[in-house]
Amino acid sequence: MKNNTQDKHDAPSGELVMRTLAMPGDTNANGDIFGGWVLSQMDLGGAILAKIYSPYGRAVTVAIESMAFINPVKVGGVVSTYAKVVHFGNTSLKIEVETWVYDHYTLELKRVTNGVFTYVAIDDHGKPVAIKKKI
Ligand SMILES: CC(C)(COP(=O)(O)OP(=O)(O)OC[C@H]1O[C@@H](n2cnc3c(N)ncnc32)[C@H](O)[C@@H]1OP(=O)(O)O)[C@@H](O)C(=O)NCCC(=O)NCCS
Repeated sequence: MKNNTQDKHDAPSGELVMRTLAMPGDTNANGDIFGGWVLSQMDLGGAILAKIYSPYGRAVTVAIESMAFINPVKVGGVVSTYAKVVHFGNTSLKIEVETWVYDHYTLELKRVTNGVFTYVAIDDHGKPVAIKKKI
């Protein structure tokens, strides 16, 4: 996939971590779904995967990179979030997160975003701890 384009062979990659419905309350001034809402779905989805690798089940987002918004989301779209680990650090993980929207009216599945999120595993005091490399 090139920046901000989607070819016809493009398909979701990674584990399905979340699925939800885009609601009217999540719209921007244009009537489409607000980018911040989509970003928050991505952060939650990545965190669900990151928690699995944390010995305390706790992880925080420390950075977001390579973020792209490719297609808009309309109200009523079913938004699915996929995530996969692309780098294991010592206390951190880089997770590639994608969102896709399925439109029941046009019967189309479209890539909405992709981005790489870095999470750090933390202990009960918020201090970084070594991640579990095997789960
Ligand atoms: C994440 C946090 C616990 C890291 O604490 P820290 O004392 O800076 O820890 P360190 O410097 O030891 O770094 C820990 C890991 O994070 C990585 N890291 C730190 N800052 C980073 C950044 N900006 N980008 C990418 N990785 C980063 C380090 O490379 C290190 O990874 P490694 O152990 O795999 O090599 C601390 O910065 C924090 O609590 N940040 C706020 C997190 C948060 O609230 N997120 C939600 C925002 S609303």
